[in-house]
Amino acid sequence: MKLTLTEKLIKNSLVEGSLERGTRIGIKADQALMHDLNAMMTYLALESLELDKVKINLAVQYIDHNMMQADFKNDDDHRYIQDITSKLGIITARPGSGICHQLHLEHWGIPGKSLIGGDSHTVAAGGIAMLSIGVGGFDSAMVLAGETFYFTMPKIVKVELTGKLPPFVSAKNIILEVLRRIGVKGGVGKILEYTGPGVKTLNVAERSTITNMGQETGATTSVFPSDENTRQWLRAYNREKDYQPLEADDGAVYDEVIKINLSALEPLIALPHLPDNIVPLSDVLGTKVDQVMIGSCTNTALNDILSVANILKGNTVHKDVDIGLYPSTRTVIRESVMRGAYDDIVSAGVRIFEPICGGCNGNGFAPKTDGISLRTTPRNFYGRTGTKTAQVYLCSPEVAAASALYGVITDPRTLDIDDIKYELPERFLDDSNIFVMPSLSPDIVPRRGPNIKPIPPMEAMEDTIKEKVLLKLDDDITTDHICPAGAKYLPIRSNIPELSKHGFKMVDETFPNRAKEAGGGIIVAGENYGQGSSREQAAIIPRYLGIKAVIAKSFARLHLANMCNWGILPLTFVDRRDYEKISSEDILELDTSNLKENKIYTLVNKTTGEKISVQSPASQDELNYIKAGGRINLVKEKLKG
Ligand code: F3S
Repeated sequence: MKLTLTEKLIKNSLVEGSLERGTRIGIKADQALMHDLNAMMTYLALESLELDKVKINLAVQYIDHNMMQADFKNDDDHRYIQDITSKLGIITARPGSGICHQLHLEHWGIPGKSLIGGDSHTVAAGGIAMLSIGVGGFDSAMVLAGETFYFTMPKIVKVELTGKLPPFVSAKNIILEVLRRIGVKGGVGKILEYTGPGVKTLNVAERSTITNMGQETGATTSVFPSDENTRQWLRAYNREKDYQPLEADDGAVYDEVIKINLSALEPLIALPHLPDNIVPLSDVLGTKVDQVMIGSCTNTALNDILSVANILKGNTVHKDVDIGLYPSTRTVIRESVMRGAYDDIVSAGVRIFEPICGGCNGNGFAPKTDGISLRTTPRNFYGRTGTKTAQVYLCSPEVAAASALYGVITDPRTLDIDDIKYELPERFLDDSNIFVMPSLSPDIVPRRGPNIKPIPPMEAMEDTIKEKVLLKLDDDITTDHICPAGAKYLPIRSNIPELSKHGFKMVDETFPNRAKEAGGGIIVAGENYGQGSSREQAAIIPRYLGIKAVIAKSFARLHLANMCNWGILPLTFVDRRDYEKISSEDILELDTSNLKENKIYTLVNKTTGEKISVQSPASQDELNYIKAGGRINLVKEKLKG
């Protein structure tokens, strides 16, 4: 049988199920990665399960997300993480040594292996032909505990690349073009597999820009073949032994096909506030810019930095523009310094930050009130920068740098310079001392600051839900809407009682108090509820505030899994028009005594008397978690024996 590359990768790790589309399958992951923000829940869960050693070949912890350290909270979290990872057998990167996805690609990614990561942009590793999937902190805990990871076998979309990118039209424009065509929901239930002669024109860093931001289509993951470029990349990191060639068989069958001629691409830009709000750059040329941020796991590999330096060299950024750079890793910094690129960038007037997420997740470098911020990040969700009124545009590093020079959105192709010809070095500088090996000592007692609170107990679900609709929401509610990003909130992510005081405040200031007073409730939403990040606090907060069920037109994959893990019942309308039959404050009743996969339930609107058919997209296993009050309760029982 002729196989796609995706099918080959899944087969490598498959332990349950088959390649039949739409069926539930289970894989055992070869590798896991975690970052400090989501991992707090991972380790608190593992502590409550009393696991003494991880059961996976390779697990790597990064400390890159929560770096503000405005008081003791973040550093306390980092110390706790360093101790518990050492005890459990997890390799840990030193704080602030690089953004997890790029560091993992540089030091640990292996073609053909599978990677489950506690962050939605884990999918970046698809650039090196890994099967890489992002999950929430609790699913990470399960993977570390050696449990099978389940998901629905996705459809496989062939993204056929032909031609070659023109000068100053870099890889970011490829993924913006994909988003322009299929939108933020277009990848749901699918894996995007890149093929065609255009693939060999892209190096691994460019490929990972594309797979990384493929997350914004809602796809399970994206993947590129492993070829000569991959071998050269691995060799440059002294890891050529990890190379193996991997590609789809000739004649493999795909479920859908997208064709992109790279030679015909022009610079694109995403307008506020969604990554698929894309127009040609020419539509917005001349728009005044207040801030430029170059950085994030999507776009600060060495080739990006050299390209920015090439544009800024010998110039000074516009007086009205505040520009900052977050490089991706320590190696990228050192290589850029060695080549003089950092000097070109600094002397042009760019502020240099640490190699961390920083401004990307609202943890620094927030724009001014009503500010227009041009960013190379993957997301421009409303409020994500920390400034609610900011207008964030997403673009390539080249567009960002050119616009910084002129203070208005500028096409880099109009500059009187040549594009760089980037060549991968024979060997990157050695930065392997970033990583600290675990001691595996059972005597370690993790240092635990006062802000770190245990996971609150979760009650089992009763046989009938009869609750008030506390919120009726529109389409595309993001995890940022539910659990705010920003420097004010990140340090309390390990303190659910405190964090829950801010749940949904971006859409309704009164929600936390109303939920507390009501003692429970239901949320109604439109399409794609929970899109965005893997942050499971966006499920834990509503659960902690008493939300029993969310009835939506559709759910984002990662958030759906998080809701099930934490005991919130996801329901969809059999007839989407029934969304109109529910108003805020209505009382809804549902029999939850027998939760069954694919079952159609009758929801009774006690306020209007109407009956509405709903069903749950959750699997039977997930419905069992929900009934038990959350997966943690079931796993605890299982481990007890
Ligand atoms: Fe960090 Fe932003 Fe990437 S938060 S992991 S740099 S999307």
